[in-house]
Amino acid sequence: MDAEVLDRIATELGQTGRCVFPYFISASETQALCEDLAIHQSQGDFRRAGVGQGAEFRLQDSVRRDEIHWLNPPGKNPAQSALWQRIELLQRRLNQSLFLGLREFEGHYAAYPAGGYYRRHRDVFARDDARRVSLILYLNRDWEPGHGGQLRMHAPDHVLDVEPRGGTLVLFLSRELEHEVLVSQAPRLSFTGWFKTAPSPRST
Ligand code: OGA
Ligand code: MN
Repeated sequence: MDAEVLDRIATELGQTGRCVFPYFISASETQALCEDLAIHQSQGDFRRAGVGQGAEFRLQDSVRRDEIHWLNPPGKNPAQSALWQRIELLQRRLNQSLFLGLREFEGHYAAYPAGGYYRRHRDVFARDDARRVSLILYLNRDWEPGHGGQLRMHAPDHVLDVEPRGGTLVLFLSRELEHEVLVSQAPRLSFTGWFKTAPSPRST
């Protein structure tokens, strides 16, 4: 991956708290990840996503309607390995440029059915704020504006909508940015994850 690309991403994230980068991966890489995702779907590896963590985890139809499948490095095939390599490079660059102290990454495929959405939220849990930077990489090859499903980011003074086009990367500061997924009229695929600091020590 181009050092210049990494620089531009880190600079934009540092200046605005978010970054939208189309064509982060090529059409063939998008295709390969899509095929991998489809295999996991057909194997029944996806689970309904919920809200909350640990004992507080619950399914909540009114909040989100997507299914996820967690991935682990180094990756089970070339498409996944290439993805983890990019994530490693991104993490290193973000730490060098922005001193975020990112130590870990966790990520999953996400599949929204037609009619799916994820209401306005922030990507931190009540008792765990280790997530610092959210990453979304869209895997939809033939996305059309009429499909809806935009990621709506609520910046303090304006709203920014992003179409989930295959190959587009989105990063934002997990603690700060409220966001939502608008109702999608078509199945909507992505890889979504979080760069995390080491869990902070708790007093109790
Ligand atoms: C999430 C999320 C946004 C998107 O999974 O937490 O906000 O565009 N996803 O898929
Ligand atoms: Mn989110």
